[in-house]
Amino acid sequence: MVVHQVGIVTPARAGADGANDATTAGKQSAPALETRALTRRFGDKVVVDRLDLSVTEGEVFGLLGRNGAGKSTLIKMLTTLLPPSAGSASVEGLDVVRQATQVRAAIGYVPQALSADGELTGYENLFVFACLYDIPRAERPQRIAEALAFMDLQDAAGRLVATYSGGMIRRLEIAQSMLHRPRLLFLDEPTVGLDPVARDTVWAHIRELRAKFNTTIFMTTHYMEEAQALCSRFGILRAGRLVACGTLDGLRRDSELPDATLDALFAHYTGESAEAAGAYGDTADTRQSSQRLS
Ligand SMILES: Nc1ncnc2c1ncn2[C@@H]1O[C@H](COP(=O)(O)OP(=O)(O)O)[C@@H](O)[C@H]1O
Ligand SMILES: [Mg+2]
Repeated sequence: MVVHQVGIVTPARAGADGANDATTAGKQSAPALETRALTRRFGDKVVVDRLDLSVTEGEVFGLLGRNGAGKSTLIKMLTTLLPPSAGSASVEGLDVVRQATQVRAAIGYVPQALSADGELTGYENLFVFACLYDIPRAERPQRIAEALAFMDLQDAAGRLVATYSGGMIRRLEIAQSMLHRPRLLFLDEPTVGLDPVARDTVWAHIRELRAKFNTTIFMTTHYMEEAQALCSRFGILRAGRLVACGTLDGLRRDSELPDATLDALFAHYTGESAEAAGAYGDTADTRQSSQRLS
């Protein structure tokens, strides 16, 4: 059982393959991620507000919230890119402030804005990350080849990333983020701005990552359809506060809306429809970054 500020929630697993999950043996699964009263302020503005959250190993956790709710700020604290103003967080049992270096070695991160280097080939982008992650020189070619194959990018490996589609860039970034075989992967809006076909392909790869390596995935999205397709548990962030957290059924119970869709639950907890929440800023930002790559 995982205790949140909003109640008690049973952790769910994304796949039916619970072999690696300690709960199946009646034991407690180790939390992959835990925050206690985690807070981030910018000046006077509280952007993440005393957040208590726990994510179990092997879970695919979806953090939902309208633009400006604090999702990316939370991810930046969990990935050690931004120091917390107050409270604490641990990732794979490591403190994000005191053990930042070890945390960085244990996680993969795909930021919200497209980040691959358009002037390098796919292979070269991966090579840079293999060096950054200290993958031994002798292992680099094999690891890069595996990552390219896993993300279906072998044929494009020698091409400049500036010629890639948005979906290919996202797949390359996921390949980069998993080169060092992290236990926990952070995906900040992995499919924003992608067409439905590219989105489906990214979804398939995220599912495979979870099934094959039991990677814990912490992702944010505006798309309720995406959250429902991929995530076993959801947290809804509103103005920096976790206003709901649980499985779909758990959210339905907590809100006393037994038949509600995730869309309806999102609207219930945020006071805004999911479609409206995702329609503006971020998509435009990502598209702009996509153009900047070329
Ligand atoms: N570096 C920063 N300086 C000042 N304000 C920031 C900074 N980063 C984010 N914010 C503000 O924090 C709020 C939450 O932003 P963000 O975490 O990006 O939200 P989300 O990812 O949910 O859209 C927004 O109001 C944003 O303007
Ligand atoms: Mg964001």
